[in-house]
Amino acid sequence: MASQTRPEAKAKSFGQNIETDLALEFLRVVENAAISSARTMGQGDRKLADQVATEAMRTTMDTVPMQGTIVIGEGERDEAPMLYIGEKVGASFPDGTEVPVVDIAVDPLEGTNLCATGSPGAITVLAASEHGGLLNAPDCYMEKIVVGPSCKGAVELDAPVADNLKNIARSLERNVEDLVIIVLERPRHEKLISDIRKAGARIKLITDGDLSAGIAAAVIGTGVHAVMGSGGAPEGVITAAAIRCLNGYMLGRLVINKPELDERIARMGIRDKNKIYTAEDLAPGKQLIFAATGVTEGALMRGVRFFGEGTRTSSVIMTKNTGKVRFIESIHLQKKPDVKVRFA
Ligand code: FBP
Repeated sequence: MASQTRPEAKAKSFGQNIETDLALEFLRVVENAAISSARTMGQGDRKLADQVATEAMRTTMDTVPMQGTIVIGEGERDEAPMLYIGEKVGASFPDGTEVPVVDIAVDPLEGTNLCATGSPGAITVLAASEHGGLLNAPDCYMEKIVVGPSCKGAVELDAPVADNLKNIARSLERNVEDLVIIVLERPRHEKLISDIRKAGARIKLITDGDLSAGIAAAVIGTGVHAVMGSGGAPEGVITAAAIRCLNGYMLGRLVINKPELDERIARMGIRDKNKIYTAEDLAPGKQLIFAATGVTEGALMRGVRFFGEGTRTSSVIMTKNTGKVRFIESIHLQKKPDVKVRFA
């Protein structure tokens, strides 16, 4: 038999490509946070749900081979015990193999109330990129519009709602009456909701979780055509990372309505507080990873399910440059000799 030459593995190839090196590592991070917080589902304690997700995320981060810096996290250094902005996370290889340098934006539990009440849509989520690839947004609101790939350029942040809806409908080759728009149910959205109703589109009001709503809007077949209204700016940056991986379209503008926010954005070097950001501005990374696991049931991911033999999690991992969108169903088996795996 003719001998075959096997390709040589590059001993020092780790650290060259953030997406291929780390996508599945970050899967473990969001999975572990989801499993921990899912144990608190329905307990009515949103702080506890967030705390256990944060602790699990932080602990698992330190098993990932990387030099990571948290750029969006649980708050400033003096207000958050862990996963605070500027915190260094990650592990090194004992033999000194180079590890990737990454910026990370985390939301250890997006939808703390949803988890506390056992309602759909709670997820654990993060985005990662090369250094400088994620806008270090302040913890304020952001006005947002998120749509899918067919609606690129069809919406404007300051256009009348009826015009945006007409353009979305035209891009999707349907009537305005057929559209479903997700809006956070908040008093600040009264006018927006009334304008959408007047235009004739349908609305899905959500109590929390505009991040997973944004992702659903960029995926065909979810029955969601746009997300409109203001939500968290940090959530906006993480949404933008997903939108770039999904080739969707997003516009956002920071809501700077307090003097301390003026100071904060000045420190960040933002001169124009009315700037309208695209997904490319919010998550400009050449390499981008988006990772999320469902905690409670959702449009794209199932919630965490505990059963006798272990735990099932449902996640989505996306990478921009390598163009992968992976829906991952994991079974975390209990460590016992007679453990069995069921297909579904
Ligand atoms: P938490 O997970 O921190 O509870 O945030 C959930 C959320 O609903 C986000 O999805 C959304 O962007 C933001 O809160 C809206 O903020 P507010 O509740 O102040 O309107």
